[in-house]
Order: sequence, then structure tokens, then C-alpha cells
Amino acid sequence: MDDRDISQAVISRLPRYYRYLGDLKDDGIERISSQELSELMKVTASQIRQDFNNFGGFGQQGYGYNVEYLYNEIAKILGLNEKHNLVIIGAGNLGKALANYVNFERRGFIIRGAFDKNPALYGKELRGVTVQPMDNMEKFITEHNIDIAVLTIPKDEAVKVAERLVACNIKAIWNFAHVDLNVPDDIVVENVHLSDSLMKLSYGIANTQRR
Ligand code: NAI
Repeated sequence: MDDRDISQAVISRLPRYYRYLGDLKDDGIERISSQELSELMKVTASQIRQDFNNFGGFGQQGYGYNVEYLYNEIAKILGLNEKHNLVIIGAGNLGKALANYVNFERRGFIIRGAFDKNPALYGKELRGVTVQPMDNMEKFITEHNIDIAVLTIPKDEAVKVAERLVACNIKAIWNFAHVDLNVPDDIVVENVHLSDSLMKLSYGIANTQRR
């Protein structure tokens, strides 16, 4: 099946399935029915079946799904069976925090390099990775087979840096800068705005009657 046939809504639910299945696997659970998964995840069983049917249904036979098989299949769909090499652009508070989160590596996202325009940061280490000047960025990305650039720089700087990333054939940008990047369609951009999540939380508070 062509991935483009699958809705973004379905894709955006897969990481959550993956997390729950990972926990079930760690707890030694071998099989689970869509009803049980539904109760655990608080989504309807029919939603789960519909989502999984996009990928052929994952062979639910008799009693439920095989947890490990489902976990591995979702990993493949999410591309987690391959390692991805990352660079961090902007070694400030956010860049450092991301570099220090070890679980990305467990998922196959390996931070290979970090870059900043502030000379005071050159040579500093972010969990084993040395911060380098921006002048080294293109050569490093090309020579180290870097797939993903993590943009943790101010929005005024992000557009120009994104152009440089496009020019050196980066595959994907994980964009934390608060600006929409205008890049060619074959470059994957995932925008992350923690403040959007906080605004949703605020909406929830404003629209929930406390019992
Ligand atoms: P920070 O000021 O601690 O770090 C920014 C770093 O980027 C600095 O080290 C600076 O020298 C570097 N930098 C600036 N321009 C650059 C360029 N052209 N090339 C390379 N390096 C450059 O700021 P912090 O807290 O790490 O935040 C970084 C950016 O991320 C901010 O613009 C902030 O608005 C944004 N942010 C976004 C969040 C989100 O959820 N999307 C959450 C937190 C921050």
C-alpha cells in the first residue's frame, strides 16, 4: 500500500499504539484483543480495528493480536527498524535538553553532531557530541550520512538555516523554531510547538466544569 493513502490522523495515532504495545511486551503479555487494547488506551475497539485495517489488519486470529508481532510491524511502518542520524542546530537550552534525552537513541535516533553560531560554545560537549561552528555543518551532514536536522534556533534564523539544510540534501527537519519552513515537498518537516499543547490544555481548563 502507498503510504500516501493513509490519513495523517491514522499515522499520528501509531506512536501511541507503539508505546502501549512496548509496555505490554515488557510486561510479558503475548496476546491482546482489540477490546482489551481499547479499554487500556481509552479508544474504541472499532477505531483500533479500522486503524489496523489500513495496514492489512495485522492478522488478528482467534483471540486478539500477537503483541510482539504488532509492535514490530508498527515499528516498521514508523521506520523505527532503521537507525537515523541526527544533528542539532542550536546548542542552547532546548538543544541541550534534547541531546540529553537518552530514549531517542533507544528508538534509533542517534545524535551525531551539534552546531551553533556562538563561538563560546565551540568545543563544548552535549552528551559526547562536540559543538561545532556552523561553517562545518554542510560537510559534516554529507560525510556522516545525516538524515535529520533538529532546529532549535530562533525563528528569525531558522529560514536561512533551513535553506542551507535543503542545499545539502537533508531528508527531514524536526523544527522547534516558531516559523513555518518553506522547503521542497520531498523534505519531511515535523513542527513541534510545545506552546500549542499548552494552549490546548488551557482550552480544556476553560471548557471543563469541575465536578
Ligand atoms: P537559547 O537561546 O538557549 O538557544 C538558542 C541557540 O541557538 C543559542 O545557542 C544560539 O547561539 C543558537 N543560534 C542562534 N542563531 C543561530 C544560527 N543561525 N545558527 C546556529 N545557531 C544559532 O534558546 P532555547 O531556549 O534553546 O530555544 C531555542 C529556540 O527554540 C527559541 O527560538 C525558542 O523560541 C524555541 N523554542 C521552541 C519550543 C517549541 O516547543 N517549539 C520550546 C522552547 C523553545
